Amino acid sequence: MKILLLLGLVGSISCAFRDHANKIYIGAAVSPTYFSDATYQSLAGAQFNFLTPENEMKIDATEPSQGQFNYAQADELVQFAQTNNMKVRGHTLVWHSQVPSWMQSLTGTALEEAMKNHISNVMGRYKGGIYAWDVVNEVFNEDGTLRDSIWTQAMQSGFIATAFQAAREADPNAKLYINDYNIEGVNAKSTGLYNLVQELKTQGVPIDGVGFQAHFTAGSVPTDLQTNLQRFADLGVDVAITELDIGGAGQEAQQATDYATVIQDCLAVSRCVGVTIWGIMDKYSWRASTNPLPFDDNGNAKAAATAIEGALQ
Ligand code: XIL
Repeated sequence: MKILLLLGLVGSISCAFRDHANKIYIGAAVSPTYFSDATYQSLAGAQFNFLTPENEMKIDATEPSQGQFNYAQADELVQFAQTNNMKVRGHTLVWHSQVPSWMQSLTGTALEEAMKNHISNVMGRYKGGIYAWDVVNEVFNEDGTLRDSIWTQAMQSGFIATAFQAAREADPNAKLYINDYNIEGVNAKSTGLYNLVQELKTQGVPIDGVGFQAHFTAGSVPTDLQTNLQRFADLGVDVAITELDIGGAGQEAQQATDYATVIQDCLAVSRCVGVTIWGIMDKYSWRASTNPLPFDDNGNAKAAATAIEGALQ
């Protein structure tokens, strides 16, 4: 009996991540596109207690034509999260990518009005039901200056404060985040963001948190990740790892170590509220060729999954 039981555990972990996520949440980017795969769907609900829609709450998904909102897929995910007792990170309201063409063609105050209308509609739809929103996403260049986009062209840097103010109005209970990549260590980009967050706080702009995407490759987790998370937390905001994946084809051991490191660094910072992994199974990842996720193409636990479970305990 016992042997049979043990055999049954090969290729799986002994328990679910979420059973060990007491101090921080453990989330995944989820898409209903893959719900036809029963293994994927059951891992999503069983392992994680937090969910970020991978694409379904982006501007092109929710407002494909101006003023015409489509919430079918986002609703499905929010429903799935409720059924499985998961909280939701809304992602994302203002971004330079996945912007529908109608919006790309707007300028000046027309774009500003469209931005505010978008924020109030989408956040209003899920008011009270979303733990945190990525209000603005990826607004920095690598050198720490603001990225040139339709948003800066219409409103200069002011689009950021305007977006946060509109977001607070739309759902006063949601935590409002700025989110970016390559800001996990102390560098020019993260320092640009640090200065902006400090300025926004000084100006009384309603910002609650900073999301660190954390798209890594094995062996590249910045050694100063914890230090960097802490310096942001010291500004008086929450921090979260929001899109963790670690490219590691052929480097499963290093990948596992790196997953554990990221979770330990979050656990070491009291204002680090959680870690979200950008996907579940390798084959459905946006970086599928690098096998960056804790579960393989068949949904079996990799060394990374065991490491994540161990680090959470
Ligand atoms: C990615 C999705 O995973 C892909 O399915 C989509 O084709 C492109 O966007 N930073 C972000 C995420 O904030 O929204 C991106 O997600 C990955 C990079």
